[in-house]
Amino acid sequence: MTDLRHLRQDFPVLQRTVNGKPLAFLDSAASTQKPVQVLDAMNDLYRNHYANVHRGAYQLSIESTAAYEAARVRVADFIKAPSPDELVFTKGTTASINHVAYGWGLDNLGEGDRILLTKIEHHANIVPWQIIARHTGAELIYLDIDDDFQIDISSLDEVLDERVKVVGVTAMSNVTGTIGPVRALADAAHQVGAIVVVDGAQAVPHSVVDVAEMGADFVAFGAHKMLGPTGIGALWGRRELLERMEPAEGGGEMITDVRLHESTWAPIPQKFEAGTPPIAEAVGFGAAVEYLQKVGMDVVREHEVDLTRYALGQLGDIPDLTVYGPADPENRGGAISFTLADIHAHDLATILDQEGVAVRAGHHCAKPFMRHLGIPATARASFYVYTVREEIDQLIGALHHARKVFDVA
Ligand SMILES: Cc1ncc(COP(=O)(O)O)c(C=O)c1O
Repeated sequence: MTDLRHLRQDFPVLQRTVNGKPLAFLDSAASTQKPVQVLDAMNDLYRNHYANVHRGAYQLSIESTAAYEAARVRVADFIKAPSPDELVFTKGTTASINHVAYGWGLDNLGEGDRILLTKIEHHANIVPWQIIARHTGAELIYLDIDDDFQIDISSLDEVLDERVKVVGVTAMSNVTGTIGPVRALADAAHQVGAIVVVDGAQAVPHSVVDVAEMGADFVAFGAHKMLGPTGIGALWGRRELLERMEPAEGGGEMITDVRLHESTWAPIPQKFEAGTPPIAEAVGFGAAVEYLQKVGMDVVREHEVDLTRYALGQLGDIPDLTVYGPADPENRGGAISFTLADIHAHDLATILDQEGVAVRAGHHCAKPFMRHLGIPATARASFYVYTVREEIDQLIGALHHARKVFDVA
């Protein structure tokens, strides 16, 4: 059993109480808390080095630029990108997928083409493609989800042919923890000449990710779900695709020349970073990655498997509680969705909050998947490096309390 409780001292907010109870923060799949190392790195930039990047010839700008670019190198190294040039800083996972949908999709999709997604995707990997499909005339098709909450690739041969130009898949579901069959999909997609866009919003923070091993063409992820600040994320893409792809946004700093009627683009990754970037946020992202690397991503994963095993066991003992997700903790992430009798997830989350337990309630930005499950919402508990078993015990106690409050027979 891994015990990372010593890390909790780095997270000031975890010392808080909520409604007179110790805080049990079980909503890390939505966004994680930040360690002092991240806060200090951002503070230090603003206090001692801050200026705009890539513009000034003066010392502060040189230092700011060096810090920004060092963060790029760190984040690229974290996902084992072959080169930091292939790592584009964006506003987050959603923005990264939009970059590909607009930049690649508008140029490469048309009538008769297909975009293959899965029914478990977050809206961030559905809605941009719907917009692009509307612009281009391409058609959206979906892989189903089987009874064990896995993406069903048994029908792949029937749906994957030369008409499919893009395959979009999550590497880890934020609803069920389901691990997407990225490698299998990538190998099959490449056979028919399609590109593969991976939503790594949950997988990158929670598992060891090597983009080459994944076999994908683009991987999108964000800092705020991995101890970093909001407002920054990354898009990794294969060099040749990034070099050919049009920028989805134009403006300052992404050009080599601008004339009255046309412009030429800067080399990657600057081509995709129009305008002043989130500089301190990038530095915070770098510090978050450094923190996780010190813990070790294999340890992060092991810790999460332990917690998931423990939580699934405890939840299994609560009458009238249904868990939606794969049963094997080794074969899933740690986001655990559940319902309790017929109590609405929002009511349940409110009662849990009174007991100091923070969980997410709702459709988790996965409405098509909720429809597939035939429910409007679930409550979701999710973990990270700072989570301890006592917080899961607090959740279990609060769920028993909720049964009493709602008079569940
Ligand atoms: C699987 C998945 N994809 C995409 C996103 C979108 O991330 P963001 O809102 O940070 O852009 C999330 C966030 O909840 C997610 O869990």
